[in-house]
Amino acid sequence: MSGVLSGKIGLVTGAGQGIGRAIAVEMARQGASAVAVADRTAETAAETADLVRAAGAEAEVIVCDLRVRDDIARMVTRTAERFGGLDVLVNNAGVIETAFTTAPDRGVDALPEEVWDAVYEVNLKAVWLATKLAAPYLRRSRRGPAIVNTASVSGLTGFPNAPAYGVTKAGVIHLTKVTAVDLAPVRCNCFCPGVIDTPLAQDHFAAAKDRDAMERELTAPQLVERLGRPEEVARLACFLASDDAAFITGSSYVIDGGALAWLGARD
Ligand SMILES: NC(=O)c1ccc[n+]([C@@H]2O[C@H](COP(=O)([O-])OP(=O)(O)OC[C@H]3O[C@@H](n4cnc5c(N)ncnc54)[C@H](O)[C@@H]3O)[C@@H](O)[C@H]2O)c1
Repeated sequence: MSGVLSGKIGLVTGAGQGIGRAIAVEMARQGASAVAVADRTAETAAETADLVRAAGAEAEVIVCDLRVRDDIARMVTRTAERFGGLDVLVNNAGVIETAFTTAPDRGVDALPEEVWDAVYEVNLKAVWLATKLAAPYLRRSRRGPAIVNTASVSGLTGFPNAPAYGVTKAGVIHLTKVTAVDLAPVRCNCFCPGVIDTPLAQDHFAAAKDRDAMERELTAPQLVERLGRPEEVARLACFLASDDAAFITGSSYVIDGGALAWLGARD
């Protein structure tokens, strides 16, 4: 199939829903020959794989827990063995504090240590480990190898009550730079979404005392007055993965409806 990702073999983590699902499907639409759909939830990953096949690419479901090193190793080798290599690694899976605690106070002086560790393991350590373990395959790729990491605007500015999330996303932004340096000519970039309409964002709203107030608070700084769509983020991720971005590496791209463009909030 033709398209900017023509013939590429991709691996997307957290591809069972939300932004990861949208990226996996968009990769297929844009011509990828194969996409490995990695997630800890088998059912949602299988749904994504069906969507990938319907969009024209081969798909393989890989059930893995990114907090387990051997699972990450298996995820990478299974992809390469099944499809004959790896050209694009998308480190997308991420978790926020509310996935591990119902405590209303999750601030820097209240967060339980095990919640910090859990968020760190998924959001930052697993990104590094997947990069490390995929590096030999990416270095062998002759189809414009690239890594795309999912960071967040939370890694660029402080948000209340999610300290591990913000710190690990800041870590992803810097990991992107050092990966670009150490693995060149393999490219590595990241994108920083604002508020995107996915189960993660909806669950985060739901964890607040007043769900609607939380949504309003988070979207008030945006110049585009709506939630972002996973498909919009997926098109940016696919651009960064493609040869159209051949001169771009070590960079971060904000996709936030203009929220970080100013210090204001809409009425
Ligand atoms: N939605 C937003 O507003 C938003 C904003 C900024 C950044 N992001 C980032 O975008 C990425 C995707 O977010 P989303 O909103 O689509 O989230 P989501 O929760 O809707 O989907 C994340 C997926 O990752 C999987 N996952 C989580 N932990 C895992 C683990 N240990 N092992 C394997 N898979 C695991 C989940 O099963 C799920 O399918 C994350 O890195 C998130 O931090 C999201």
